Amino acid sequence: MVVSAPTFAEAGRVEVPLPTGWEEIVAPVRPFLGQVAERLSAQVNCFEPEIAGYARYALNNQGKQLRPALVALAGESVGPLNDELVSVAVIIEMIHLATLVHDDVMDSATVRRRQPTLAARWGNSVAVLVGDCLFAHALKLAADFMTTEVSRSVAESTGRVCTGEILQSHRRRRWDLNRADYYKVLEMKTAELFALACSLGARMAGGGAAEQDALRRHGLALGTAYQIFDDCLDVFGTEQTAGKSLGTDLATGKVTLPVLIALERADAKDRAELLGWLNDWQPGHYIAVRALLERYEVLQESAAVIDGFLGTARDSLAGLAPCPGVTALSALSRFLSHQTSALGG
Ligand code: IPE
Ligand code: IPE
Ligand code: MG
Ligand code: MG
Repeated sequence: MVVSAPTFAEAGRVEVPLPTGWEEIVAPVRPFLGQVAERLSAQVNCFEPEIAGYARYALNNQGKQLRPALVALAGESVGPLNDELVSVAVIIEMIHLATLVHDDVMDSATVRRRQPTLAARWGNSVAVLVGDCLFAHALKLAADFMTTEVSRSVAESTGRVCTGEILQSHRRRRWDLNRADYYKVLEMKTAELFALACSLGARMAGGGAAEQDALRRHGLALGTAYQIFDDCLDVFGTEQTAGKSLGTDLATGKVTLPVLIALERADAKDRAELLGWLNDWQPGHYIAVRALLERYEVLQESAAVIDGFLGTARDSLAGLAPCPGVTALSALSRFLSHQTSALGG
């Protein structure tokens, strides 16, 4: 069992006590995640010797394994774990890694998963091409399935992630962006892979169409909440804890919820000052921007928005039969809400 048994059910939703941490939530699927990590590292041998060093650098330094955990927990919500689920998790994590390698080029980020980014170590050209090799390899692994369904859905989701990143670039410094448009970009660039992990997890564990659909909706809402959390982390987190470059959203003019809320709430003078800093970004502006955002309590409002998406994520589980996998997914969303409150320090 993942966490303690449900203490009460509310409006058809299973509520569980707050887990103490990520490790507690993923404990029952830890062996599964170990297999995913091992198999990912082993993929290094499939690359040409001359580029295997880059692939090893990227594939051996693994992150939180959020998406593989979702494959396992969504799978467990409908049936027993199996080897196909491990393969799906490897593929999705490799796609995620490829997007990170490219994202760090676009954001000029220097640190990822507590080590220099590929771009910082070997330059943008190598990073772009290694990212491409990772995409290509993931699609090759997807082609090993008996059914074309996995390749098709992985390719479709990858296209949506990349499209989301392009839409985001088009919206740089468009400070009049409405929230709905912002959520749409997050859904594409981040939530889509969460949704893929959940729906393919359900599919490969033998779930029916309704279960796949419910878990896909869960992934979309959870992924959107996660990206909003990450956008708050970019302003209010510390690089030491996050293990990656922060402040890159402000530096690159990405429109994120904390800034949108500040612009909605600020008086005319503060608004003009904030826009001045954002449009002519200097690292020295960071302290003043953060102070202004704190004055307008944007973290509290962002947390309320995140909780709204997490509520939708939990609601989408209501039709599934109660089981440890469903309980763990519910616990995961409560954990994210807790992590958001912790951001305020
Ligand atoms: C980082 O994802 C990119 C976002 C969608 C915010 P993760 O926070 O899951 O990164 P890793 O995999 O743990 O490094
Ligand atoms: C997530 O956005 C990027 C992808 C979906 C690839 P961010 O740019 O906010 O991710 P981090 O903060 O660099 O991890
Ligand atoms: Mg980035
Ligand atoms: Mg970010």
